[in-house]
Amino acid sequence: MFPAVKIIRFSVLMRKNSKCSLFIKKYPYLCRTLEQLKRIKSMAGYISDDIRKVTTHRLVEMKQRGEKISMLTSYDYTMAQIVDGAGIDIILVGDSASNVMAGNVTTLPITLDQMIYHGKSVVRGVKRAMVVVDMPFGSYQGNEYEGLASAIRIMKETHADALKLEGGEEVIGTVKRIISAGIPVMGHLGLMPQSINKYGTYTVRAKDEAEAQKLIQDAHLLEEAGCFAIVLEKIPADLATRVASELTIPVIGIGAGGGVDGQVLVAQDMLGMNNGFRPRFLRRYADLHTVITDAVSRYVSDIKNLDFPNEKEQY
Ligand code: KIV
Repeated sequence: MFPAVKIIRFSVLMRKNSKCSLFIKKYPYLCRTLEQLKRIKSMAGYISDDIRKVTTHRLVEMKQRGEKISMLTSYDYTMAQIVDGAGIDIILVGDSASNVMAGNVTTLPITLDQMIYHGKSVVRGVKRAMVVVDMPFGSYQGNEYEGLASAIRIMKETHADALKLEGGEEVIGTVKRIISAGIPVMGHLGLMPQSINKYGTYTVRAKDEAEAQKLIQDAHLLEEAGCFAIVLEKIPADLATRVASELTIPVIGIGAGGGVDGQVLVAQDMLGMNNGFRPRFLRRYADLHTVITDAVSRYVSDIKNLDFPNEKEQY
């Protein structure tokens, strides 16, 4: 493959050239990706030109050079295509699909088959980002062989790049077993939504010394077991910063402050589709609830007023 810079130079030449339209016709995806990367780069100021697939190795390199890692959820093909095209580093097919896509109160009901369906749909839409699929509740807690069987099914059927599962010491045997099969694993500590019935609340975790110490120990255990990254959810920023500085693998935070190596949010939350969910850690980058409501109500009124379809919108 060409280095990205060469491809960009080549495409600039081609654009100046009269054969440009032929090039675009032949390589539409490449042209779209280059345009998107250039647009994002000019907007953000610091986005790599690198259009190579994101790997576990490249994530560690990003941590080493101090480049923050961006991660967002997607559960379907259309959203994954948009999110990947916008330059995200990691797409998480989160078990939050249970809440966001299926309307469940917790993440517990989502099944292995349903996660595989979401994972497959996302993978089909992604070219560059690393795709990580959550192992759902009940698919790995029994024992390490059950965990390995579930992990292999997800990898075989979705073609995802890696898996994420919740827990530290309690699941360390399963984590090691899955990694020994050559499957990259991302850990998840702090608020672990699959244990909501144990906690009884979604408030900030590890505020007391004992829980903070256990979290630090678990983070080290996960790194030693071979995890390539860890998500820390809803814990004090100082604690998250300490964990990120002690570990060599990337630590991605959600509600864990800015001292970690990257950030993850649920796409529907940061796009403002879910009006009722406004935790302190959430930054809303759009108000799609209003945009969609407005578009749908205009559509309804155009139909009622016999304005849609007009003459140009029919055969
Ligand atoms: O399922 C999910 O969306 C997650 C993120 C909140 C990290 O695990």
